[in-house]
Amino acid sequence: MYLNSRNSSGGQPETDGKGTPFRVLFVCLGNICRSPAAEILFNAAVQHAGAQGRIAADSCGTASYHIGSKPDSRMLAALQRAGYAWGGHRARQFCQADFEQFDLIIPQDESNRADILHLARTAEQKAKVIPMSRWFPADAADREVPDPYYGGEAGFDHVVQLLEHATAALVQDIEQHRH
Ligand code: 4NP
Repeated sequence: MYLNSRNSSGGQPETDGKGTPFRVLFVCLGNICRSPAAEILFNAAVQHAGAQGRIAADSCGTASYHIGSKPDSRMLAALQRAGYAWGGHRARQFCQADFEQFDLIIPQDESNRADILHLARTAEQKAKVIPMSRWFPADAADREVPDPYYGGEAGFDHVVQLLEHATAALVQDIEQHRH
């Protein structure tokens, strides 16, 4: 159990009678490597769980460098090797409205987390911010999703593997808290 009752009561899509999905936002620095990969892998896990319509996802970056760009071709290649395809997402920057638009805000590393917490204005906004590492396996060697941007192919494959597990665990967690 990773989500607390506050997070899980944020959306209550199945009980509010309005059909509003539980909304998850993945955040990294550039929104061209880790967070778009998290979004793609999470959406696949949502489909696999039959939870489409109950859970929705988006991704963004804390920085503005790559606004409007497709994900990095090295990340798309790593995703393709693992059997996943890009859904058309273009990079965008995190904005204040995201604190209201999303139920959970998931930074990929500690630096992204500090940046988002710095922008949060209320305790409620801060409470929505939970690091991706919360859903790593207990024996994971990583403490955050490592930035693959300046490394080689293996780093991208590693991020895909790490996120494949973590996003599936996150979907399970959200589903368990809403039943
Ligand atoms: P991301 O990776 O935060 O996972 O999208 C990066 C993308 C761009 C840069 C660094 C990391 N950059 O320095 O431009």
